[in-house]
Amino acid sequence: MAKPRILSGIQTTGNLHLGNYLGAIRNWVGLQAEYDCFLFMADLHAVTVPHDPKVLAENTLKVAATYIACGIDPEESTIFVQSHLPEHSELAWLFNCITPLNWLERMIQFKEKAKKQGENVSIGLMDYPVLQAADILLYEPDIVPVGEDQKQHLELTRDIAGRLNYQFGTEKKPVLKVPEPLIRPDGARIMSLTDGTKKMSKSDPSEQSRIDITDSAQAITKKIKRAKTDPERGLEFDNPERPECNNLLGIYQLLSNQTKEAVAAECKDMGWGQFKPLLAETAVEALAPIQEKYTELMSDRTYLLQVLANGKEKAQAVATPTLKKIKAAMGFMQP
Ligand code: TRP
Repeated sequence: MAKPRILSGIQTTGNLHLGNYLGAIRNWVGLQAEYDCFLFMADLHAVTVPHDPKVLAENTLKVAATYIACGIDPEESTIFVQSHLPEHSELAWLFNCITPLNWLERMIQFKEKAKKQGENVSIGLMDYPVLQAADILLYEPDIVPVGEDQKQHLELTRDIAGRLNYQFGTEKKPVLKVPEPLIRPDGARIMSLTDGTKKMSKSDPSEQSRIDITDSAQAITKKIKRAKTDPERGLEFDNPERPECNNLLGIYQLLSNQTKEAVAAECKDMGWGQFKPLLAETAVEALAPIQEKYTELMSDRTYLLQVLANGKEKAQAVATPTLKKIKAAMGFMQP
């Protein structure tokens, strides 16, 4: 029997950080054995805000190398570049024509990003969730693992699928399967090192707020040393007054592969002066093998390009028939 299918992706805007690794990629690695994973680099999404054409392609390769270095096996999973499949853009157009404008106007992420952009808001930024719906529905995945912040986009995807089925399918024969989101619980989020109430993010102007997967041991140690803490002694999880404490303990727990209970017991009498060097050492050690693999991959372009060419082919084998099916349901003439 075929394995159930998973689809997910990350935007190619800059270096990936600990939040991407612990919050997303590491979970995919764990799901690989049981699911047929389709994992892509969302480079079409990366251009919804002003971007530098000189680094776009390089960033795409970096994300691919990071996936593999973190343990995504290109033999087992399908790794591909979104822009290599015109199906994504084409389906986004078709979805544009059945998606009411007011569904997009209420997207929280759009409103937040638009506020940051000021004058320079593109139609693409508003259309971002429709492209995301196309990314997902082309593969008719069983499950879409995403972070809490993507919940609204997943709901929109389900609404678009429902609308397509309602308008162009029948109750007995829907056009598309409606996917289930797999939302990571809020506590599983990795937060900023400078503010434990904000998500660790590529777009935070402060480098100090995040640990990049490729940061040197020195940089990691320095960032952890400077991370925001509180004056309390004794470290604990889940105290709402101590978001930084919860976040740093959580990072330590994930990187050291321990249970929450074990970490809570180990750290309950520690002060920051004792915990921070421990966390730094753990982070450096956990990231070292990933960094080694990453450097190796980035110096072997031929291999990386081959992985992405194979990925494109495997992705297209699923995406092309889905698009064809949708176009047929909508009544387009066959070429
Ligand atoms: N919007 C997602 C994010 O910022 C990235 C993304 C684009 C995505 N298309 C997707 C995630 C499809 C899951 C499925 O994290």
